[in-house]
Amino acid sequence: MFMRLKDIRNIEDLRLMAKQRLPGPIFHYIDGAADDELTYRRNTAAYNDVDLVPSVLVDVENIDISTTVMGQKIDLPLFMSPTALQRLFHHDGEMAVGRAAEKFNTIFGVSSLGSVSIERIGAEINTPKLFQLYYHKDKGLTHSMIDRCKDANFDGMALTVDTIVGGNRERDLYTGFTSPPRLTLKSLMSFAMHPAWAFNYFTHEPFELSQLKDYIKEGTNVAITVADYFNNMLDQTMDWKAAEQINAYWGRPFCLKGVMSVEDAKRAVDIGATAIMVSNHGGRQLDGSRSPFDQLAEIVDAVGDKIDVICDGGIRRGTHILKALSVGAKACSGGRLYLYALAAAGQAGVEKAMTLLQAEIIRDMKLMGCTKVSDLHRGNLRFR
Ligand code: LAC
Repeated sequence: MFMRLKDIRNIEDLRLMAKQRLPGPIFHYIDGAADDELTYRRNTAAYNDVDLVPSVLVDVENIDISTTVMGQKIDLPLFMSPTALQRLFHHDGEMAVGRAAEKFNTIFGVSSLGSVSIERIGAEINTPKLFQLYYHKDKGLTHSMIDRCKDANFDGMALTVDTIVGGNRERDLYTGFTSPPRLTLKSLMSFAMHPAWAFNYFTHEPFELSQLKDYIKEGTNVAITVADYFNNMLDQTMDWKAAEQINAYWGRPFCLKGVMSVEDAKRAVDIGATAIMVSNHGGRQLDGSRSPFDQLAEIVDAVGDKIDVICDGGIRRGTHILKALSVGAKACSGGRLYLYALAAAGQAGVEKAMTLLQAEIIRDMKLMGCTKVSDLHRGNLRFR
């Protein structure tokens, strides 16, 4: 059965709809993760090992689900993590995601490997914008992205720290996924079986990695796997000193994306970061890494009063967000949850995902007897 947006009830439905619409290699690039995908599955399963204990007989007619993170007040405690290559998934790409973020007044994360330029996003998207920085060997490129974000008035920067080498994404190896897609007999056949996707891809503005194309050909004119991109282009000497220098050069709210240990969270405070995204890159890098939710409590206990702690990964339900906020996260963020939606139906799809999650958060807050995000606390959780 061909799925339609009006029949969609949850993020898993959007995932199935994306699977119908996308050529296999592109779907599996989004959906896949590293090695045996244990961490990918655990990222969501972790929320299910904790139970909510509701309170009753609270007046919950009017509730407020806004939160403030990285200095930005957002209307719901969920935002879009930066993700790469979005115009491969739907021809509107980042514009669709950014416009949906704007409608929900939440943070829009924009990737170094994005397919719409920093300038266009800065000019056309009016919501808090967080740029994700990859620390490239080419320092001219690395600094140019920071300069461009300053000029385009981005609000924050997140330096990704968990991609020092490429994760072993075996689905991509099986399917032959590259950016841009390599035109082989196999890939052309999968395009032919998804004619609507292929028509849109080939009739819209040619795909490019807009932040990189003036410096390097890889990813735009030369097909490369994401793992090879990380291995060849990113600087493996990146260390705390480099992160501190990037923070100083940027000089605005700064976040480390991919912090998983208490020690590193403390060092993030020491270098003056505004926030950390507790994240394992959606299980796409180190398989066997702990899930962000499992690791959240000890990090919040150590640094939660000094820095904004964001729980990134595995979220598919409003209750997952309530559980992370109860442990002490300031906000949650996710990638696949809106990428499936983007692939399924462009901006309307992303708005559907956000509408569903917003409704779940509101309903679940009311069922929990909470009128604001700060009413959630560890006392309303039980770990099994
Ligand atoms: C990925 C990168 C590009 O996980 O963030 O594929």
